[in-house]
Amino acid sequence: MARKKTTISVIKADIGSCPGHVVVHPHLEDVACGFMQEAKDDGLINDFRVTHCGDDLELIMSHRRGVDSEDIHKLAWKTFEEGTKHAKSLKLYGAGQDLLIDAFSGNIKGMGPGVAELEFTERPAEPIVVFMMDKTEPGAFNLPVFRMFGDPFSTAGLVIDPSMHAGFMFEIWDIMEHKKVMMKSPEELYDILALIGAKSRFVIKRIFPKKGKLPPKEAVAAVSTEKLAHIAGEYVGKDDPVAVVRAQSGLPALGEVLEPFAFPHLVSGWMRGSHNGPLMPVSLTDAKCTRFDGPPRVLALGFQVNDATLVGPVDLFDDPAFDPTREKAAEIADYMRRHGPFEPHRLPLSEMEYTTLPKVLSKLSSRFGAME
Ligand code: F6R
Ligand code: MG
Ligand code: MG
Repeated sequence: MARKKTTISVIKADIGSCPGHVVVHPHLEDVACGFMQEAKDDGLINDFRVTHCGDDLELIMSHRRGVDSEDIHKLAWKTFEEGTKHAKSLKLYGAGQDLLIDAFSGNIKGMGPGVAELEFTERPAEPIVVFMMDKTEPGAFNLPVFRMFGDPFSTAGLVIDPSMHAGFMFEIWDIMEHKKVMMKSPEELYDILALIGAKSRFVIKRIFPKKGKLPPKEAVAAVSTEKLAHIAGEYVGKDDPVAVVRAQSGLPALGEVLEPFAFPHLVSGWMRGSHNGPLMPVSLTDAKCTRFDGPPRVLALGFQVNDATLVGPVDLFDDPAFDPTREKAAEIADYMRRHGPFEPHRLPLSEMEYTTLPKVLSKLSSRFGAME
């Protein structure tokens, strides 16, 4: 059923890469483009872009079918399934890695791929940024998304622009207990930070406007929060997340959306999903993780949405102004690497639960005796 609002769906999966876990093979992107073009010709979607961030194949779709549309999720699933066949025929590494459940049953969530979707009434001009990360987890978005919508030292508009002065609503998920809470910024700023600072458990899922020109029920930012290990029950790679953020005219300006990434904060992931390391903002050319399978990357593509079609992309971190951040990230990567297998480079035991380490430790358990 066609509806008036526009939906942006970003759905991604690691279905195989070359070599090892480095980068999506161009053939897989071609296969995905073929599927997307067919869906566009059939009127299922209005527009699309296919890209990658490291070993993750990224489908960016615009349509009018709303979030959680079975048709759109099925299209993404079929695309990944078909891509997996090609990945297998090329003997790519980790072919079909993120397709954890066999049969599609209406919604791709909980099946392995990551999903970030926004449905909104298009403004006269509608800028959006699609963020894609590799070798990290959904909580990596907590700090930058908080800064965009909650930190007046980062987003000047929170102070200067009367239409942003009231602040925003944060929808925060407890991904361990499967509960969620809505919180008000700035009124509950300290409580919000008390939660989202624990980024392996509490993640920002969506941001909503509070007052002003924008409909308060239409989210202005959404982050994928799928946790592969929770679905598979064991380590099957990190949950490299994606996000969609709307910008300008009562929302953070495009530069305010990007500004938090000028600080290469520490995120968990990197080698074997088991290490803390800096998040490096990169252009598409550098969206491939090589050093120690990292360090973790973030790619940002900017679009204007025009009547549910996509104008762009512009590769937003392809800007020398982010060179110092990249240099700092490389410097931090060196510093962290020198800790070798020691915390805090290696993740704390609580976060290693879903890696291969418990198997190593269980072998030693019978050798432990009582302490004096
Ligand atoms: C991190 C990642 C890689 C792999 C590592 C070992 O998200 O995907 O760092 O964990 O290359 O991979 P396997 O166990 O497939 O040899
Ligand atoms: Mg991989
Ligand atoms: Mg990946």
